[in-house]
Amino acid sequence: GSRGINPLNPLSSPLDLTTIAKGIAADMRDEVQRGKVADYIPPLAQVSPDRFGIAIVTADGQQHCAGDADEPFSIQSISKVFALTLAIGAVGDELWARVGREPSGSAFNSIVQLESEHGIPRNPFINAGAIVVTDVLLGHLEPREAIGQMLRFVRELSGDDTIAIDESVARAEQDTGFRNKALANYMRAFGNLNGEVDKVLGTYFHFCALAMSCRQLAMAGRYLMNGGRVDGHGVVTARRARRINALMMSCGHYDNSGDFAYRIGLPGKSGVGGGILCVAPGIASVAVWSPGLNAAGNSHLGTMALERLVHLTGWSVF
Ligand code: DON
Repeated sequence: GSRGINPLNPLSSPLDLTTIAKGIAADMRDEVQRGKVADYIPPLAQVSPDRFGIAIVTADGQQHCAGDADEPFSIQSISKVFALTLAIGAVGDELWARVGREPSGSAFNSIVQLESEHGIPRNPFINAGAIVVTDVLLGHLEPREAIGQMLRFVRELSGDDTIAIDESVARAEQDTGFRNKALANYMRAFGNLNGEVDKVLGTYFHFCALAMSCRQLAMAGRYLMNGGRVDGHGVVTARRARRINALMMSCGHYDNSGDFAYRIGLPGKSGVGGGILCVAPGIASVAVWSPGLNAAGNSHLGTMALERLVHLTGWSVF
């Protein structure tokens, strides 16, 4: 698509992204079908499906926000992007001996492939994969240190040191995360988990319980749109940024990843709290949030909003 010029009218002035964000937020506010809020993690069930936020941060650093863009929400599986980034930084390509790079075509919390695939999860963005990624981080850190490293990382990426972890969400996941306990124990039986299950999961749950707003999340995603660099400082190499984006495109929405690529055409990562981080390489880092989910556990209105955004901007990579 065009870059920064409205493809629907190439002679028009450059895109007014603030107006676009506000228009999308207004449209989403009026939608009746809002999806179903996750309730398997009890505190998430308390969040109103009426919420919607959008934040667009462009490569030149401008922020365009609308709706509930400054309301922190549970980023849940979006944290898998930051955990992957830290783990690749820690062990490099050795990571790929323990986790694959293929879409699973299964639910985010599925266990079925682990049996025939020897405890090696399909990719780092399903729960099993992120649990292994967390175990890798714990190869050289205590849980407390790994949680601190994650918190420092997202605070630094977003330039906002008010970001915090919602302990009540982390605790609720400890109390109710029976599937994750099954996944971790099963992988441990295959020798693909070195740490104690409780320590690995405690760390994983704290990553998922990070609370961030759309604005903070879009700011945190800038390194992925900028070839790994933020404010002249290298977070990851350009090659790593490209590879993380490729994984987000192919695996970022679980068994909905093909549909997301078809409708949006951009790398994206969803979370069961209703957030989506989406990257238009070279152009923008975008975060949307609406807690109602579709059947695959991805934000219903968030996906619709991104579809509208790429339609209006031509930002699809295809
Ligand atoms: O482990 C879990 O089930 C949650 N903490 C994260 C799952 C999630 O966000 C799936 N997303 N769409």
